[in-house]
Amino acid sequence: MTERVEIFEMGPRDGLQNEKRLIPAAQKIALVDLLSQGGFRRIEVTSFVSPKWVPQLADAAEVMAGMTRAPGIRYAVLTPNLRGYQAARAAGADEVAIFASASEGFSRANLNASIAESLERLAPVAEAAQADGIALRGYVSVVTDCPFDGPTPPAQVARVAAALRDMGCAEISLGDTIGQGRPETVDAMLSAVLDELPADRLAGHFHDTAGRALDNVDASLARGLRIFDAAVGGLGGCPYAPGAAGNVATETLAAHLSACGFVHGLNMHIIRRAADMARALRGNADA
Ligand code: HMG
Ligand code: MG
Repeated sequence: MTERVEIFEMGPRDGLQNEKRLIPAAQKIALVDLLSQGGFRRIEVTSFVSPKWVPQLADAAEVMAGMTRAPGIRYAVLTPNLRGYQAARAAGADEVAIFASASEGFSRANLNASIAESLERLAPVAEAAQADGIALRGYVSVVTDCPFDGPTPPAQVARVAAALRDMGCAEISLGDTIGQGRPETVDAMLSAVLDELPADRLAGHFHDTAGRALDNVDASLARGLRIFDAAVGGLGGCPYAPGAAGNVATETLAAHLSACGFVHGLNMHIIRRAADMARALRGNADA
């Protein structure tokens, strides 16, 4: 088998957003520049969110301005509202992502809004991105388990994914934010979401808190998904999801997908160097 899969690199954004000590922009730029040599199609660089909510990414514009763009890579960012979108545009983002929650508890904690309010706030962002011809991704968080509300009903995930699709998201990334999903719960969730969107418009976004990310990737592969989010060095965690650990490590996921016969196109030498760099950043941040 030589089927292609895409690994979407999240390290600079999801990987670093949770670090307590502020990491200098220059070090983030060095990481993005190294990742740009790694063979990715897309790299999520940062978020244009409220710096009161995520102080670590307050330097979003500086990082975007300082990195060296490599041809053929789409540099993506997260935008929670129109203000973030406008800043992302000004910074030259090639792709923006809007994000919503499948549970009310996490929506309140992460966005200070109900699901309905957050979707209302995101609609003008989606409209603007489409008018500007900017690629638009949507995230649904806590797709199997929520730290506040417990297990997430699959129908609820499908409903929020459909709402993001209706707003114009080309692709929806399904986030196991706290890494508590199991192959059975992931499969049940996908079964519901696949009634709304085809597999080629879905991505799997697995945090590895319980060490089941690769099992959940396998469950998603079996359902036809071929896009997976990951962070070099397994960095990450969401500041508003207690217990959230890192994204599945890019190097681990890439090795797993290769062993399963998929082609991901990443340069493993660069990926290993980037993983070392990412871990060192975290080491500094923990110091
Ligand atoms: P709020 O406090 O309800 O709204 O936050 P606000 O409008 O009152 O804004 C608060 C302050 O932030 C104000 O400043 C705004 O001006 C400012 P003040 O007037 O008090 O000085 N502000 C901004 N500043 C810069 N850029 C902006 C912006 N917006 C407001 N875009 C809000 C509501 C949505 C803004 C807030 O809740 C927020 O930013 N949340 C983002 C939280 C976040 O980034 N979480 C992590 C990313 S999601 C994730 O990790 C999950 C994912 O990986 C998938 C998965 O794993 O499931 C994607
Ligand atoms: Mg995440």
